Amino acid sequence: MTSTELAGATALVTGATSGIGRAAAVSLARRGAQVIVSGRDEARGDDVVASIRSLGGKADFIASDLGDADAVRALARQAIDIGGGHLDILVNNAGVYPAGPTCATTADDIDRAYAVNVRAPFLLVAELAPAMAARGQGAIVNVVTMVAHFGVAGMALYGSSKAALTLLTKAWAAEFGPSGVRVNAVSPGPTRTEGTRRFGDQVDQLASLAPAGRPAAPEEIAAAITYLVSEDATFVHGAILDVDGGRNAA
Ligand SMILES: NC(=O)c1ccc[n+]([C@@H]2O[C@H](COP(=O)([O-])OP(=O)(O)OC[C@H]3O[C@@H](n4cnc5c(N)ncnc54)[C@H](OP(=O)(O)O)[C@@H]3O)[C@@H](O)[C@H]2O)c1
Repeated sequence: MTSTELAGATALVTGATSGIGRAAAVSLARRGAQVIVSGRDEARGDDVVASIRSLGGKADFIASDLGDADAVRALARQAIDIGGGHLDILVNNAGVYPAGPTCATTADDIDRAYAVNVRAPFLLVAELAPAMAARGQGAIVNVVTMVAHFGVAGMALYGSSKAALTLLTKAWAAEFGPSGVRVNAVSPGPTRTEGTRRFGDQVDQLASLAPAGRPAAPEEIAAAITYLVSEDATFVHGAILDVDGGRNAA
């Protein structure tokens, strides 16, 4: 473990079986948090748990399909049980990124993307934030995307779903902040993960448009998530932290 600054805290990280979510789970566990790793793929989940435990950290896996509203609520309840009756940190990281022209996007595509990218975080916050508020503490980080802030052809569905999550970040900061629950978002640029492998060179091409000129490693996004839940960010509420190599600045 790197430090004990999050000792005693329990954290649920969705989409922690891969990429950014896995890096965030490892980072929080390194700082002493008990981490609940969530995703659908049990084998990958068990792998993440094993690697955290091998570092001396605490982790458990809960399999859950966030496309199913009942499963999302069940995940919240199981996470509280495993957390010993409380949850202090929620990282809404799981996401799907459909790409393609608007005219080729079906009603089912829209429902699937919005179920995972918007409805699931919404239901998790509805289930978990009131208890955080009652305890007077908690930190929630939503993972959005740089393409929630400007238009990119072929990303209407994905970008709009994350734009909704961006606004929800501010709405929840306003709703729960007065009770001591900080709600913030990290807005990544192109990042090398299992999920973006299928885009091949397009990841480099998109990344080359930003000042940094290269894709991020998942750990670079996880570092920002870790900052936002940490004691270093106690006055940070409702922030959308761009971790996009400067793309939004240039
Ligand atoms: N990579 C990038 O370039 C980039 C850039 C900006 C924003 N983001 C955002 O960052 C987040 C993580 O991206 P990533 O590239 O690390 O993703 P990834 O490698 O594709 O992994 C996605 C994660 O989400 C989980 N997930 C997907 N659908 C799910 C469902 N229906 N139910 C439960 N879990 C589900 C997956 O778990 P299972 O497969 O185990 O179900 C997996 O752990 C996403 O929200 C993405 O939109 C990524």
